[in-house]
Amino acid sequence: PKAIKSKIVNLTELRSERVRVFGWVHRIRDQKGIIFLVVRDGTGYLQVVLSGIPASTYEALTLNLEASVELVGTLQTVPEGKQAPGGHELVVDFWRVLGSSPGAEDAFSNRLNEKSDPSIQADLRHLVLRGETASAVLRLRSSLLSAFRDAMNAHSILEVTPPCLVQTQVEGGATLFTLDYYGQPAFLTQSSQLYLETCLPSLGDVFCVQESFRAENSHTRRHLSEFTHLEAELAFITFEDLMENIEDIICKTVDILLANPTSAALIKQLNPKFQPPARPFRRLSYVEAIVWLNEHGIKHPEEDAEGNPIKDATGQVKLVEHKVGDDIAEAAERQMTDIIGTPVFLHGFPAELKAFYMKKIPSAAGATTFTESCDLLMPNVGEIVGGSMRIADMEELLAAYKREGIDPEPYYWFTDQRKYGTCEHGGYGLGVERFLAWIADRYTVRECSLYPRWPGRATP
Ligand code: 4AD
Ligand code: MG
Repeated sequence: PKAIKSKIVNLTELRSERVRVFGWVHRIRDQKGIIFLVVRDGTGYLQVVLSGIPASTYEALTLNLEASVELVGTLQTVPEGKQAPGGHELVVDFWRVLGSSPGAEDAFSNRLNEKSDPSIQADLRHLVLRGETASAVLRLRSSLLSAFRDAMNAHSILEVTPPCLVQTQVEGGATLFTLDYYGQPAFLTQSSQLYLETCLPSLGDVFCVQESFRAENSHTRRHLSEFTHLEAELAFITFEDLMENIEDIICKTVDILLANPTSAALIKQLNPKFQPPARPFRRLSYVEAIVWLNEHGIKHPEEDAEGNPIKDATGQVKLVEHKVGDDIAEAAERQMTDIIGTPVFLHGFPAELKAFYMKKIPSAAGATTFTESCDLLMPNVGEIVGGSMRIADMEELLAAYKREGIDPEPYYWFTDQRKYGTCEHGGYGLGVERFLAWIADRYTVRECSLYPRWPGRATP
């Protein structure tokens, strides 16, 4: 009978039929002349029995790991006590190799396993992706993006696609990638925030799923030079509304992932201990966090005027207590989140430490000025969201450009938002790779990107 072409994931519905499957050889075992395969096609894994096909035929000899194959046969339920993905195996009556693979003789892929040097794994990322863990992370990433969009839809927030090529900075000039744009300087976008703000009077609340770029010389577990940025901007809200929206979108996204059997199984495979976070999320003001760090003996290196750590006579880095005005560095932030062990909203950072566009909380003359800003910190990862209310007043914005040394000219379109019907508004950015590192319990965001970019790395 004619065979029905099917993806592996849909085979269960075709148990009584003769089926045709295409895929790659994931595992191979020759047992007393019978060849057993595990074949994968990206949708799943399938156990295959090539019975009645002598292992000495030419085809069988060219059948190697990673070869692509066509298989025709019927599905059989695996006997009691035996395990196979989907509980069935394909007993093949016709098969052929479509694309051979060098197999065990291949010096290149032989260098590759989970313990390989990270630089080899990075060079061979295109082959690493064929592995079970890497592909599971990327499949979960796909589900996460779709769940995030569903959560946004549930809030009637509309998706837009802002440009990546821009002529304005958002998060400070120090991390801009500059390029020659038809003879003019331009940058790769650091954040789509300013563009989202311009959409409010036209489209209402908006979000985007867009790449952001940071020329940060940070070789850490959580920094990439290019990352996927989920950003949202909301009109006529208070700071409280903003934090509630962040919490709700995060929790809805997680609920949608756990309600779907496919993504729930991926989470279970990658992070068996994962539990959806309890609500409401804990809140800690920046000033409270400084007190908390000191109470828990978490210090930071004392820095000179250039920001270099000061060493004592014996060459040891000098550690000092945190004080109001200090940046809470990655190490301290991580220790704090790991001790607390739940999501934490850190809010109300000093204006000095934050971007120019953030709304300031009125303060007495000479006192520290704080902002309506928040970071959401997750155990194991640290900051996954950064957000704030924005300056709504024209004069205040012009003063902010000045303080930051920004030429207002290229920002005319952003400034105009304050001229034509300003409104109280705010928004946030969520890093996809950090969000995924938290849910899937990955050591580094590099595992959560298809082809991660970090300082010095732009291949493959
Ligand atoms: O805190 P950030 O810099 O905030 C902004 O860009 C705002 N303009 C967003 C907004 O309000 N629309 O970045 C937001 C998030 C961070 O919390 C982090 O998850 C991620 O983006 N992120 C990075 N992820 C990986 N590598 C980097 N170098 C990242 N920089 C930021
Ligand atoms: Mg931030």
